[in-house]
Amino acid sequence: MRVEMPEFEAVPVTKLEQMADALAIRRRVFIEEQGVPEDEEIDIHDGDPAIVSTALHIVLYLDGAPIGTGRLLLPHDGEGAHIGRVAVLAEHRGIGAGRAVMKVLHGNALYRGIHDITLAAQLHAIGFYERLGYVARDDVFLDAGIEHRWMDVRL
Ligand code: COA
Repeated sequence: MRVEMPEFEAVPVTKLEQMADALAIRRRVFIEEQGVPEDEEIDIHDGDPAIVSTALHIVLYLDGAPIGTGRLLLPHDGEGAHIGRVAVLAEHRGIGAGRAVMKVLHGNALYRGIHDITLAAQLHAIGFYERLGYVARDDVFLDAGIEHRWMDVRL
């Protein structure tokens, strides 16, 4: 049996239109689906990519349509590298899109000489990140009313 694999195109966000695609996915997933308040979801790292230098955003396209996103916060102000806002539209989950977003973010981190990454995982997503090598630590904490744990990986 031949299994067709979806062909994703992962694009590093450099233009406002791509940033709008990333934010539209996050609006659907985090604000509408999960109930995260808009003023907690969008922050200073989500501005015009021509100006904001603290984050690298990725948008994943399938057949030209944006379906997934995530961002790498670069080390700044004494903080290490941090991945966050990883989201795939509900109708496109389970086909490897989330893993593709993470792999591209990891590749970009390595390209910058970054080997250690931390993220705050929603409890339901811990297994997803474990498959990518992340290890959970410390107690559960609440962020935007959602239970999380810290996870780390060394690439
Ligand atoms: N728990 C355990 N394993 C999971 C999982 C979960 N919630 N979601 C996916 N996986 C596994 C898959 O089975 C697959 O396993 P395999 O390597 O054996 O094939 C692997 O992780 C990759 O899955 P993938 O299809 O790439 O995941 P996805 O595209 O469905 O994306 C999320 C996963 C978490 C990004 C997606 O469910 C999502 O957007 N959820 C809502 C937003 C969210 O909660 N984001 C995380 C915030 S911390």
